[in-house]
Amino acid sequence: MLLPRTILILKWAFIFISTVANGSPPEEPVRCFSNLKNCTVTNAYGAFPDRSICHAAEVAYPSSEEALVSIVARGTQEKRRMRVATRYSHSIPKLVCPYGDDGLIISTQNLNRVIKIDKENMFVTVESGVTLSQLIDEAAESGLALPYSPYWLGLTVGGMLGTGAHGSTLWKEGSAIHDYVIRMRVVTPGSPEDGYAKVRTLEENGELDSDLNAAKVSLGVLGVISQVTLKLQPLFKRSITFETKDDADLSDQVATFGRQHEFADITWYPSQNRVVYRLDDRVSSDVSGNGHWEHPGFRAVPSLVVHLLRSTEEDQEEKDDVDGKCIGGKLTSSVLIKSAYGLANEGIFFTGYPVVGYQNKLQASGHCLESHSNAEITVCPWDSRVKSLFFHQTTLSIAISKAKYFIQDIQKLVKIAPQSLCGIDLYEGILMRYVTGSDAYLGKEEDSLDLDITYYRSKDPKSARLHMDVLEEIEQMLVFKYGGLPHWGKNRNVAFEGVIKKYRKGSEFLKVKEKFDPLGLFSSEWTDQILGLKGAVTIVKDGCALEGLCICSEDVHCAPDQGYFCRPGKVYEDARVCTLVPDKVTNTHHKDFLYSLKDEL
Ligand SMILES: Cc1cc2nc3c(=O)[nH]c(=O)nc-3n(C[C@H](O)[C@H](O)[C@H](O)COP(=O)(O)OP(=O)(O)OC[C@H]3O[C@@H](n4cnc5c(N)ncnc54)[C@H](O)[C@@H]3O)c2cc1C
Ligand SMILES: *[C@@H]1O[C@H](CO)[C@@H](O)[C@H](O)[C@H]1NC(C)=O
Repeated sequence: MLLPRTILILKWAFIFISTVANGSPPEEPVRCFSNLKNCTVTNAYGAFPDRSICHAAEVAYPSSEEALVSIVARGTQEKRRMRVATRYSHSIPKLVCPYGDDGLIISTQNLNRVIKIDKENMFVTVESGVTLSQLIDEAAESGLALPYSPYWLGLTVGGMLGTGAHGSTLWKEGSAIHDYVIRMRVVTPGSPEDGYAKVRTLEENGELDSDLNAAKVSLGVLGVISQVTLKLQPLFKRSITFETKDDADLSDQVATFGRQHEFADITWYPSQNRVVYRLDDRVSSDVSGNGHWEHPGFRAVPSLVVHLLRSTEEDQEEKDDVDGKCIGGKLTSSVLIKSAYGLANEGIFFTGYPVVGYQNKLQASGHCLESHSNAEITVCPWDSRVKSLFFHQTTLSIAISKAKYFIQDIQKLVKIAPQSLCGIDLYEGILMRYVTGSDAYLGKEEDSLDLDITYYRSKDPKSARLHMDVLEEIEQMLVFKYGGLPHWGKNRNVAFEGVIKKYRKGSEFLKVKEKFDPLGLFSSEWTDQILGLKGAVTIVKDGCALEGLCICSEDVHCAPDQGYFCRPGKVYEDARVCTLVPDKVTNTHHKDFLYSLKDEL
């Protein structure tokens, strides 16, 4: 018992010490065998949900709108399949892959300038490859702020709009970046008369408002976003307090809490009956404080430490060490809570609540992106060049009015299987954020609660995971029982089952796509699947349910050789999940685990 605890404590000590270390910047997702030709493309994790590798014949790096126009024109004339890649490609699904193997990747890496800041009107115009980090910094220099944003600085403006990225609020226009877009310039295929490419300016309250509503969340299928103008606010201060409570009345709190605090969010650890409320509001700039936020999970971590973390988790999985996971989960969440999730009042120290500071220093973090050396010593915790954290992410939003019932369902699951959710506490439990309904066709339909669950993924796609049945049941509950909308940039395939039918304006979106790109040059196999145009999002084969490529309907979709069979859910009986069935286990190693489980019960 002592050893794993010591390791865990050491690991946290390392993470905190590493705050000052320089990171090795993440790798570029596009790699070519010869100069800009014969390329492969992946995401920041180095793995798509189906673990395929995508190929492209060519990559282009435009550094101006003119260059972009000529690339799209050439692609259109040659009827090439095209997709946009970004500096880091943080989306998990296969959005970046073009159709077939001979597509053209257009990278926005060099479209990285802030074009104009209009202080008077509080508008900022940026090229689409500008990162959230740059956007926040440059706006702040002009005394302006983006009021709500994702919590991670490594995303680009084009990528955030591509997938509907958001922070957390139910106030005003809402927490999604696309709700602050007032103008966009999009380069689409054109007719021969247009010179094969067309620059379309889409403007709020313009004649073509409907086009803007489509382009605000576009999945990259409408063409290449060249420039974006966002509406900002005067830079302001906020005051943050994390309050830890038991979760007995969470189901009653969840709907009202989101209206009580402007930047409210909730981190829930169901297996510990523990919940952390973020009491976070705007304050007058007279209130003293110079706080900032550096999320421990986004810090540069020594690769040795990530190695250790991952090995510990793999070990726990292999040895069915549920107790180890529960101890580790408790320790991880306690350290996070004690360290205020990386908030600091001054310098690097947290001295007590509330933490008051300027918006630009508190809204997002991403230290592991920065690098001043070529050292391979520190990395982002998920960097696939070293042995690192490897996980699934299930992220869907459900109507606020249904959130209460979802929480009660999870509480029932925890009663039935108390240790089943310990594994998510090694990450961040269930992160719950508020997102408002949007006029973007592929934005949220109504005010919603976004649930973000990160959990262990095996390096071996055929390997069953501890208590995977419970996580699958939650995933299916969110998708079907609660009609959840998946985050377009996260999730496993099953979360996208029937997704386009959940959008009232889905067909409007498709009309704009038809108008902008009638040949579908910017569409891919994956976008055709999620938009319901061709093929299914699920892939049915042996073991497919283990990685969320399918919902099991037969035992072979699970891992019968490891004792996992296709069974109904425990609370949501319509769910079909891979469940460890005691009497059928042939493997003695699993048998020991099950007997100990039976003893516990
Ligand atoms: C550590 C981490 C934290 C995260 N935190 C949050 C969070 O707090 N909130 C949240 O909502 N999400 C979060 N995400 C998910 C993230 O928002 C999405 O994955 C995001 O879309 C990725 O942005 P990107 O710039 O990496 O774009 P990519 O993943 O490279 O691209 C996404 C899509 O947009 C398209 N696209 C990109 N640029 C353009 C362009 N110029 N023109 C046309 N299409 C384009 C691409 O083709 C692709 O389809 C997080 C992800 C990570 C890894
Ligand atoms: C691409 O590069 C790989 C590795 O060098 C090589 O095997 C392959 O033949 C190349 N393909 C093309 C189309 O050039």
